[in-house]
Amino acid sequence: MKDRPVIPEPYKIKMVEPIKLLAREEREKRIKEAYYNMHYLKWEDVFIDLETDSGTSAMSDRQWSALMMGDESYAGARSFYRLKEAVEEVLGFKYVVPTHQGRPAENVLFPTLIKEGDVIPFNMAFDTEMVSIPRCGGKVVDCVADIAYDPKVDHPFKGDIDIDKLEALINEVGPEKIPFIMLTISNNPGGGQPVSMANIKAVRKVADKYNLRLLFDAARSAENAYFIQQREKGYQDKTVAEIYKEQFSYADGCVFSCKKDPLVNIGGFIGLNDEELYWKTLPLLVQTEGFITYGGMSGRDLEAVAQGLREMVDDDYIASRVRQTQYLGKLLDDIGIEIMKPVGGSAVYIDAAAFLPHIPRSQFPANALSAALYIESGVRSLGFGALVFTGRDEKTGEPIYPELELCRLAIPRRVYTNLHMDYVAEGLRRVYESRDKVRGHRIIYLPPGIPENMRHFLGRFELV
Ligand code: F0G
Repeated sequence: MKDRPVIPEPYKIKMVEPIKLLAREEREKRIKEAYYNMHYLKWEDVFIDLETDSGTSAMSDRQWSALMMGDESYAGARSFYRLKEAVEEVLGFKYVVPTHQGRPAENVLFPTLIKEGDVIPFNMAFDTEMVSIPRCGGKVVDCVADIAYDPKVDHPFKGDIDIDKLEALINEVGPEKIPFIMLTISNNPGGGQPVSMANIKAVRKVADKYNLRLLFDAARSAENAYFIQQREKGYQDKTVAEIYKEQFSYADGCVFSCKKDPLVNIGGFIGLNDEELYWKTLPLLVQTEGFITYGGMSGRDLEAVAQGLREMVDDDYIASRVRQTQYLGKLLDDIGIEIMKPVGGSAVYIDAAAFLPHIPRSQFPANALSAALYIESGVRSLGFGALVFTGRDEKTGEPIYPELELCRLAIPRRVYTNLHMDYVAEGLRRVYESRDKVRGHRIIYLPPGIPENMRHFLGRFELV
């Protein structure tokens, strides 16, 4: 810290929400009653909540006042046009299909593009896409560069797609089987790692060569632009807003969960330039979400998103956001805990397989660590490993474990201070010191018919 300037957050706090730490015995009881599934804990059980950065942001005074300006007309709402203006200004897309969060955006767009037997090349898909794409008959193929799978390698853009893998896949299955290429910017399932502008441009080139669409999963695209500004040659003198818009100039469209970077508690949309595709998505939108000028949102939600889109690309804000994540990452690194390097934008990902080498993948080390941390300090985190991303061998039915076994500490935006981060690190230090005592988990109940990649939401577990 000594040789670094102290840069405070570019905001002050106007409203607070009390939080309380339960006694340790009580925490042991609550996690057992929640079947060792973080999703079954209640708000009052949790002291510091790092389960997700999704829908957990603190809105600004401007966003709160924008809520009052919401126009709740069923059709043609003024608030829709304000969102449309913001999307055009910040991202550059002409058409906006509003949805209530990210996954309905997928569920409206994908069925209009994907047919049975199609293949969708990704850098890495998120769990919702691993369900929404196969439901349309498509298959997700990760083409991320191999370094993404090594938590120890410090590389500025570990979210980059491997262009050779991408082209090999296109040649293998044929471009007619590929309705679009998709990039998650930044790459949440791979540890919040950014995608470089050079890689985005290279993927665009491949898309043009084979006449394919390029779409973004844009949930954390502002953090991605910030990393480009900080790490990629030629972008240091550009504003995050400029870089942000440049990213989208190479895409044909996006699905956007606004619960992340755009600083709202609910909201999402599809952004498009193609008028014909826009019209194709609308019937399903009307059937499943609502009319085309509100989707699944109220007028006031649309206003908050419009304002949030502008705030998320403010240079001071986004720098401070990422600095806090890096602050927590450094604390853990100093303790000797192995984390995904470099630290991503929205979360610190602990290498749970390295933390708990005595727990086999079949006993979900990332979830075991998450439960141990909760018991130790009342901090809620989320296991992102075998429980979420396991696939099955098509012939033998044997599990194929994902390369990474990560425990995610996702930091809500503008919600916690760095003292909260100190407390989180302190709890993890204690778990680390007695890590041989941590036990694995076993599944005792899954709702009938649940897709494998959704087990973490609804499953019940016990200690092995
Ligand atoms: N894409 C990415 C990259 C995501 O991280 C998420 C959600 C979605 C799509 C789906 O958006 O939740 O609004 O329907 N991620 C959350 C998380 C749940 O905790 O990472 P949604």
